[in-house]
Amino acid sequence: MANIKKSINENVAGDLFVDETCINCDACRRFSPPNFAVHPEFSYVNKQPSNEQEYLDCAMALLSCPVGAIGFGPKSKHKNILLQARDQFPLQIDGDVYINGFNHRKTFGADSYFVKDNEGNWLIDSPRFTRKLVNKIEAMGGLSYIFLSHQDDIGDSEKFAKYFGAKRIIQIYDSQKVSDAEIILDQKRTEINSAVIVHTPGHTKGSQCLIWKGKYLFTGDHFAFIRRLGHFASFRKACWYDWTTQIKSIELLQDFKNVEWVLPGHGSRGQVQKGEFPDIIKKAVEWMHSVA
Ligand code: SF4
Ligand SMILES: [Fe+2]
Repeated sequence: MANIKKSINENVAGDLFVDETCINCDACRRFSPPNFAVHPEFSYVNKQPSNEQEYLDCAMALLSCPVGAIGFGPKSKHKNILLQARDQFPLQIDGDVYINGFNHRKTFGADSYFVKDNEGNWLIDSPRFTRKLVNKIEAMGGLSYIFLSHQDDIGDSEKFAKYFGAKRIIQIYDSQKVSDAEIILDQKRTEINSAVIVHTPGHTKGSQCLIWKGKYLFTGDHFAFIRRLGHFASFRKACWYDWTTQIKSIELLQDFKNVEWVLPGHGSRGQVQKGEFPDIIKKAVEWMHSVA
């Protein structure tokens, strides 16, 4: 729980604050971009919420902060919005695709997703195993598969797998911490129902992407919209395995011409105009070569 006595000096005065325990994971800035800003070492409130939607977005950011660094001050009259925010998750992004909130500290606050699929629902990476979220997922039909994009985003996947009897899917090179995963892949490409899983090494040796119904691309930490650059790319400073390999892995995605959503763990999610995905890949690859 956030401590007002440890409130960061940069917060603008008002209801909402970030405290010194912030780990600068960026989750709050993705949930409520107008209200949170980045300092090189932390996030802070740069604009207090001023309408119902902003209060709700900030409350969702608060619930998704992996270390509980965001709080409403003791005199706030808006704390009840937290109950409303809790009920939003999983929050629909588009069609049958949802974002879970409740980001996990063990994943450094990565976003995770839920996909409702008649052939078996998916969890994409792992949020915190919180009762409210688990009940909601159960009411939406439970889970059949848990896609683990890479070793950094395992979170509470074991708890979800046990509770729902779901199968965890990870690439062999990133499977050390989940050696009991139900499906360990060693193929370049695997199809399961409406999903295609592609091994995309680079960020880690075992990073993988999942393309659902040809339209939704889940990338883990492989590929995202990078706000600072204003386009999609990989994170040069967060490449733990090999940058040249990562560029080649980005090129593998150009086969999926109908992608309309890029849904990462870190970095911003983004919508792509129909038919523009190949150009987005081309631009990303050009930039990545320029910083190799
Ligand atoms: S979500 Fe929490 S830890 Fe992450 S940047 Fe925001 S305040 Fe900091
Ligand atoms: Fe990662």
